[in-house]
Amino acid sequence: MNFAERMARLGTESAFEVLARAKGLERQGKEIIHLEIGEPDFDTPVHILVGAAVHAAWVKHDVAQCGYCQSGQIMSATAFLKSLPRGKQPTAADIDAAMAGNICRCGTYARIRAAVADAAKALA
Ligand code: FES
Repeated sequence: MNFAERMARLGTESAFEVLARAKGLERQGKEIIHLEIGEPDFDTPVHILVGAAVHAAWVKHDVAQCGYCQSGQIMSATAFLKSLPRGKQPTAADIDAAMAGNICRCGTYARIRAAVADAAKALA
């Protein structure tokens, strides 16, 4: 495929498709020089997994009201859940202690507690 054809396909060819084709060529004994940054077969970083669980739980429990405190609440929840040993389910007191640095003038504390507990279950 020439350069012009390659440029025309740009955006329709996913990185995974390119990687799969490169792996196929390697299996045929061809040498492939990888220029990507980092290892393409890495596990999803833990902060991404925890952040996704927190996000899903926040939506499920409809936590936010005015939203003013929410970025801090979500950052604290994510840091707390990242710090938990894998599989440990926090108590309500654990969650309250971890989230104590955040004030919510709308009083969403019960929903925050439920969302953090739910995210912990999802991550177990
Ligand atoms: S959602 Fe309004 S201050 Fe927390």
